[in-house]
Formats: sequence, C-alpha cells, structure tokens
Amino acid sequence: MFAKKALTLTALLSVALAKPTPSSSDNSTSSSNGTTTSVKPKVILDNDWSPAGFLPYAQALSAGWDVIGVTSSTANTWARQTAYHALATLERGNLSCIPVFKGSDYPLLNTPKLFQAWEEVHGMLAWEGAFAPVNSSTENPDPTSGNPDRLVRSAFTAGFPNTTVQDISAAEFLVQSVRKYPGQVSIYAAGALTNIALAIRIDANFAANARELIIMGGYLDTNLLQTTGSVLLADLQSDINLMIDPEAAKIALTADWRNVTVTGNVANQVLIGPEFFGAMANQTSNAYTEILATYPTQFPLWDETAAALMVEPSLATNVTEFYIDVDTSYASPTYGNIHAYQEALKPAAQDLKKIRYVVEVDEEGVKENVRRAVLEPVSCADF
Ligand SMILES: *[C@@H]1O[C@H](CO)[C@@H](O)[C@H](O)[C@H]1NC(C)=O
Ligand SMILES: *[C@@H]1O[C@H](CO)[C@@H](O)[C@H](O)[C@H]1NC(C)=O
Ligand SMILES: *[C@@H]1O[C@H](CO)[C@@H](O)[C@H](O)[C@H]1NC(C)=O
Ligand SMILES: *[C@@H]1O[C@H](CO)[C@@H](O)[C@H](O)[C@H]1NC(C)=O
Ligand SMILES: *[C@@H]1O[C@H](CO)[C@@H](O)[C@H](O)[C@H]1NC(C)=O
Ligand SMILES: *[C@@H]1O[C@H](CO)[C@@H](O)[C@H](O)[C@H]1NC(C)=O
Ligand SMILES: *[C@@H]1O[C@H](CO)[C@@H](O)[C@H](O)[C@H]1NC(C)=O
Ligand SMILES: *[C@@H]1O[C@H](CO)[C@@H](O)[C@H](O)[C@H]1NC(C)=O
Repeated sequence: MFAKKALTLTALLSVALAKPTPSSSDNSTSSSNGTTTSVKPKVILDNDWSPAGFLPYAQALSAGWDVIGVTSSTANTWARQTAYHALATLERGNLSCIPVFKGSDYPLLNTPKLFQAWEEVHGMLAWEGAFAPVNSSTENPDPTSGNPDRLVRSAFTAGFPNTTVQDISAAEFLVQSVRKYPGQVSIYAAGALTNIALAIRIDANFAANARELIIMGGYLDTNLLQTTGSVLLADLQSDINLMIDPEAAKIALTADWRNVTVTGNVANQVLIGPEFFGAMANQTSNAYTEILATYPTQFPLWDETAAALMVEPSLATNVTEFYIDVDTSYASPTYGNIHAYQEALKPAAQDLKKIRYVVEVDEEGVKENVRRAVLEPVSCADF
C-alpha cells in the first residue's frame, strides 16, 4: 500500500511539467535552449480538515496548481481525525493520488488541561476545538480532549476512507518538499501552525526556501464584537487556529519567509446562505455537491477565502503591511492572539516579520473561485 502510494506521488510530481497552463498565478521557467515551459505553482495544504471542508485543495487544483500533498493539523479536532477527513474527501473526489500526511497530535506546549485551566482564569472560548472537554454523549461529530489517537467513525459523513496516511509526519514532508523544490512551494495553513513551526525548527532554511506562507487566522481588534452580540458572533471572532498553539504561531509568523499573507478579519467577510451550494447542486451533481449538502453555512467562507487569495491574489482589494507578534504569555487574556506594529514602533529586541494583511476582498470573486472548484472538479484522471 505504502509503496504504491509513494510511486503515485512520484508520478504525480513528475507529470507536473506536462500539465495545462494554470488559469491564474502562472509561473514559467526558461530552459537552456530558450523555450519557455509552463510550471504549475506547487502547494502543500495544511489544515484541520473536516467532512465538508475540502474546498481549499479543490480551489488550488481548479486554478491549475500542483497540490503535492495535504497535511493535517490539530485545531477543530485532533490531527488523526482531520487526516482521515482529508483522506475521505480526497477519495470521494477521485483524488487519492494526492498523499496525506498526519500532523502533530499535540501543540508544542498546550494541552487540553492547560487550555481548560487558562479558560478558568481568562474566560471560556465559544469554540474550543480539540480542547473542548470530552463528552461522550455529544462526541459527534469529532473527538475532543482525551486520547488524540482515537477516530470517531460516526463523524465521517462523506464515508470512512479506504486509504491511509503516509508513514512520515507532516513536518517531515514539509521539510523534504521544500528542500526538493527550493523557492517553489507555497505553504497554506488554515489550522494550528504546529506542523509549520516543527518544519521551521527541523530545517533552519525551511521558511526562507518556501515560496510563501498563507494562513487563515490572525484577527485584530475583535474584542468588542466578542461582547456585543451572540455567542456565535463571539465564536466567529475567536482566533482558535492560533490560540490552540500560541508558541507555534509565534515561531511560524516570525520566521524569515519571503512572503507571508495573513487572512485575518477578512476571513469573516464572505458570508453564504444555503442557496449558495444549493444552487450548485441544482446545476450539477458530483461528489462535491453531494458532500456540500452538509456544509455548515452559518459560517463565513474562512479557509476558502484564504485559498482563493492564494491562487488569485488580485481578489485582495485592500492589503496593508505591518509587523506582527503573537502573545505567548500564558498569563495573558490574549494568549495566542496577534499584536501588530507599524515600522516606527516595532520592538527592537526581537526580529518580527513584516506580513501582508488582507483587509478587504472581492466577495463575488471569492465566491466565483469556490463555484468553479465545485462545478468543474479536477480529479487524478486529469493529472
Ligand atoms: C528545448 O528544451 C525543451 C526542454 O528541455 C525541450 O522540450 C524542447 O524540445 C527543446 N526545443 C528545441 C527546439 O530544442
Ligand atoms: C470506502 O469504500 C466503501 C465500500 O465500497 C464505501 O462505502 C465508502 O464510501 C468508501 N469511502 C469513501 C470515503 O469513499
Ligand atoms: C469519480 O469517479 C466516478 C467514477 O468514475 C465518477 O462517477 C465521479 O463523478 C467522479 N467524481 C469526481 C468528483 O470527479
Ligand atoms: C455533555 O453534553 C450534554 C448535552 O449537551 C450536557 O447536558 C452535559 O452537561 C455535558 N456533560 C459534560 C460533562 O460536559
Ligand atoms: C515563479 O517561480 C520563481 C521561482 O520559484 C519565483 O521566484 C517567481 O516569483 C515566480 N513567479 C510568479 C509570477 O509566481
Ligand atoms: C507576495 O505575494 C503577493 C501575492 O502573490 C504578491 O503580490 C507580492 O508581489 C509578493 N511579494 C513579494 C515580495 O514577493
Ligand atoms: C433548486 O431547485 C429546486 C427545484 O427546482 C428549487 O425549488 C430550489 O429553489 C432550487 N434551489 C436553489 C438554491 O436554486
Ligand atoms: C484599506 O483599509 C484601511 C484599513 O481599514 C483603510 O484605512 C483604507 O482607507 C482602505 N483603503 C482603501 C483604498 O479602501
């Protein structure tokens, strides 16, 4: 099984040059005889994958990108469960030629016990992700706390996968891929940043040799919104991806990347109702439209906005740049949240990174990007 999958991966990588020209974010290299060969942008997508949360890789594929692997992180639930959700949705989309690598079970320091003790002092998060207390009566859809290695099969509404994860870890795959293709691999991270931080610590050149980092998370100034509306509104404003693993977030967001794009508050900009996917299901019937019938449409297009910005940077209609730090003080009520600085006021005692912070997006453009991915899905047969 593993040998076969490894072969498929090699095959997938080696045909990359022969693929059709990507529709956006095109890239080219000149060969020695002066001809120009189209090269698909390469990406590894790291996420806390969910039963209907496959759109980011579908968007990348639909834009003509080469998804060289998918890695799983712990955030909404444990990394094993999220890896299996990725396997399941890839299988349903006829995409099992894309390898899945399981990420770190635990954040660098944080644990459910530490997180729950922090909540006792600083207040509850509306959405606690993998760190919500175990409650067997409600352990559906996904497991929280307890043993991170357990899979809860009842959560696999897209079917339980018949494939399995690769036998190296997410961080190892990240490191190996960036060594193999220096300067070419985009890293998309829409869960906790644990695997990214581990890769940075395994290989001191990892960040500098990646093409870019794009994350979902990094909210600014949302505290008022956490107090003045419903608990759901507070949930939408809580930065669970970074807060699950504050130390990893700090390592990842202060490393020496060439280019960092943060999809923070703007991830809450594009709202959809049930008619969004409903209309697509009316238009066509495929594995994706079937799975999307279970998409929780009370949430904005968080990860999908980040993916759209990656493959179609022109969808960002207002971008600003500043330096960011991540609060890693366990004693702080903003533990795991970012803090931003302008050039003149940035701290001298640490080397913070200047990042691109997207402030506004073209909403219709983001929706169209998602629509294309669902209506014209790419599968392994197209590689
Ligand atoms: C130029 O090099 C490319 C890549 O090595 C090759 O595919 C192509 O046939 C060459 N063209 C000519 C005119 O030699
Ligand atoms: C795995 O195979 C079983 C049996 O054919 C099928 O019912 C299930 O849907 C498959 N899983 C996925 C994710 O496609
Ligand atoms: C996957 O392949 C099956 C069988 O060939 C086909 O019916 C289905 O539409 C394909 N799904 C996608 C998402 O391409
Ligand atoms: C488990 O969930 C049920 C239903 O939401 C709730 O009534 C109960 O208090 C929870 N138990 C614990 C220990 O949190
Ligand atoms: C193409 O790839 C090269 C090398 O990875 C990179 O330096 C360049 O910025 C890329 N160009 C575009 C348009 O993405
Ligand atoms: C960073 O990425 C954005 C989006 O692709 C691009 O517009 C910008 O030119 C890049 N900046 C650098 C310094 O490469
Ligand atoms: C889908 O089609 C049904 C039946 O024609 C119709 O009632 C429904 O309004 C359509 N849904 C959307 C979102 O277009
Ligand atoms: C971009 O956003 C910033 C911050 O909200 C705002 O000050 C600025 O006016 C916006 N620029 C444009 C062109 O809308």
